[in-house]
Amino acid sequence: MTKLAIMGAMEEEIEPLLAHFDSVNKVDYANNTYYEVNHKGLDIVIAYSKIGKVFATLTASTMIQKFGCDTLLFSGVAGGINPALKIGDLIIADKLCQHDLDITAFGHPAGYVPGGKVFVETTKALREVAIEVALENDIKVIEGTIATGDQFVYKSDQKKFIETTFNADALEMEGASVAVVCDALDVPFFILRAISDTADGGADIDFDAFLKTSAINSANYLIKIVQKLS
Ligand code: ADE
Repeated sequence: MTKLAIMGAMEEEIEPLLAHFDSVNKVDYANNTYYEVNHKGLDIVIAYSKIGKVFATLTASTMIQKFGCDTLLFSGVAGGINPALKIGDLIIADKLCQHDLDITAFGHPAGYVPGGKVFVETTKALREVAIEVALENDIKVIEGTIATGDQFVYKSDQKKFIETTFNADALEMEGASVAVVCDALDVPFFILRAISDTADGGADIDFDAFLKTSAINSANYLIKIVQKLS
């Protein structure tokens, strides 16, 4: 690894990451700000994309193709589907899908378009490092499927569809697009989320209440993973 990308979707998701570095160089590019830092000789670029698949695609692609990052880590929050996941709990994506990609009208499976695949797997070696860090630090985390779509999910029928169609453990709005970019460009990547809500009635209220604390849980664990990698 020569240059590491660390991404979030919202400012609240990268603030606790940036707080770990005292010297930050800001670069404005393509309607966004990229923060260049260094950790023990390792160059790192940190950015939040803004919410949703399109902005996340743009940022992931920019970090790799313009800034030259060759490994990408994502930290942020998600809605929980697996009942074992409580607010604040951590999930590492082993694979991701796009729950709102739908050309089933033409007989294709949900989440599939020709030339693509329903599930994109994350990089096993990075997951293994993360699990090692969790064991060393007594951090509770599960690995599972994350479903991504351009919707804040807050209704039981929406959540049920995603659960039954994709067998997803958590859902959010950026991960799978980052996965598609990294998979296509052959860049190792890792997606970490902490639960902010359970994607059903009251999800909007829980999200507002727990965004910051859950984002901090995710960021604190991610920083430990970065320390292990550098
Ligand atoms: N990220 C965190 N909670 C979410 C939800 N309920 N829907 C979509 N993305 C989320």
